[in-house]
Amino acid sequence: MAEWTKVCATVDISENEIRKFTFGDTEVLLANYGEGFRAFPPDCPHMREPLNVSGMLDDGVLTCGKHVWQWDLRACEKATGMTEENLLFYELKEEDGNIFVDISKRLVYPWEEEEELDEEDFFGSD
Ligand code: FES
Repeated sequence: MAEWTKVCATVDISENEIRKFTFGDTEVLLANYGEGFRAFPPDCPHMREPLNVSGMLDDGVLTCGKHVWQWDLRACEKATGMTEENLLFYELKEEDGNIFVDISKRLVYPWEEEEELDEEDFFGSD
């Protein structure tokens, strides 16, 4: 069941803007792609470039400036064949001029999970 957290007002994010918000230990990027908003984890799924720094948003397409992977934020899909991983998207809703995101479960890419396991191996489980 969704747990909605208010992020900001819709007027706070201008078209083609990407902005980072932090809720406890969860960081979320919010992007205004012109026809609506999308929320996703901050790091590029390729080599973790921070998309609020290197991401460029134009005509609904988000481009990572590091190696030019691209995502269509309208369809929530990869926008090119060379983009190997899709972004993970948080559920989002607009209500009364505000944007709410369901961050009850932090979205992590598979490499993040592997790293957490590696740290457990390194430091031991006790
Ligand atoms: S780090 Fe984003 S495309 Fe490579």
